[in-house]
Amino acid sequence: MSPPLDPWRAIDRQPEPEVYVRMMESRGRTPSQARLRRRFLHFCHVWPGFEVLEVGSGSGVVARDLAALVGPRGHVTGVDKSRVLLTAARRGAREAGLGGRITFRHGDAARLPLATARFDCAVAVTVLLHVARPQAMLREMVRVTRPGGVVALQDQDFGTQVLDHPDRALTRRIFDGVTARMYPEPFSGRTLVRRLVELGLERVRLLADVYQVRSLDPFTHSHLRRRAELATRFGLIGPGAAARWLAAIEHADAHGHFVFTFNYYGAAGRKPPHDRSRI
Ligand SMILES: C[S@@+](CC[C@H](N)C(=O)[O-])C[C@H]1O[C@@H](n2cnc3c(N)ncnc32)[C@H](O)[C@@H]1O
Repeated sequence: MSPPLDPWRAIDRQPEPEVYVRMMESRGRTPSQARLRRRFLHFCHVWPGFEVLEVGSGSGVVARDLAALVGPRGHVTGVDKSRVLLTAARRGAREAGLGGRITFRHGDAARLPLATARFDCAVAVTVLLHVARPQAMLREMVRVTRPGGVVALQDQDFGTQVLDHPDRALTRRIFDGVTARMYPEPFSGRTLVRRLVELGLERVRLLADVYQVRSLDPFTHSHLRRRAELATRFGLIGPGAAARWLAAIEHADAHGHFVFTFNYYGAAGRKPPHDRSRI
């Protein structure tokens, strides 16, 4: 069976899974990403002493920030379906001196290997977009959260990608065409509030944030190169147009006027104290 188009669905079946460890760590270090991740975690109301779950914990970037927030009396559990990413996440936590505060477990978001009502807070950062069964993942996050606890999501919305490029029509064709073929719901960010409300969570809040980059950092560069490659592979553009598109991006960067932004949405809600959620 060939691997799915969205590599995040099956990292361990990719030719070089370690590439994705480096990609997540490099994304995590990007200043704009670090700022919007920390703003989101603040928005989740995670306090010292909390038991927190991170679904789709990847290489552990978010789990390490969560471990700092819960402090020595709290604990973070990360669940991911990629064994390569779990190994990297355990190593990263140990190296950061946080090994005792974080447990990484293998599991599927749609069937969490965890007891009901165990966590004060369950979060997932840029995961919903990638999982095969997003509603099952959300139901599981609600199940394992204690009554009165918080379920929180952050996701991109690929309908909001903006690049200052001389060929706007080509840019839209690449962005919209590629994401429509890769993801069942490329605009997942804008759906988060609705999904939490429909699950019966209370006091659902929204945090809209903008990822913004002014120079071609390694993560952004590889993101845009991959867009061009996929647009070519899907037959949306020819190799010449892809090369011209990338050359204009690199020219903008070399001349100090590269601008790329896209929106990230966070949503958080409380599980009703007397479980009335529709799980
Ligand atoms: C884009 S990464 C995000 C990683 C991390 N949350 C972060 O922001 O650094 C998406 C993660 O979801 C995981 N994933 C995808 N489908 C999954 C599933 N069904 N169950 C558990 N994890 C899954 C992938 O292995 C990957 O680690």
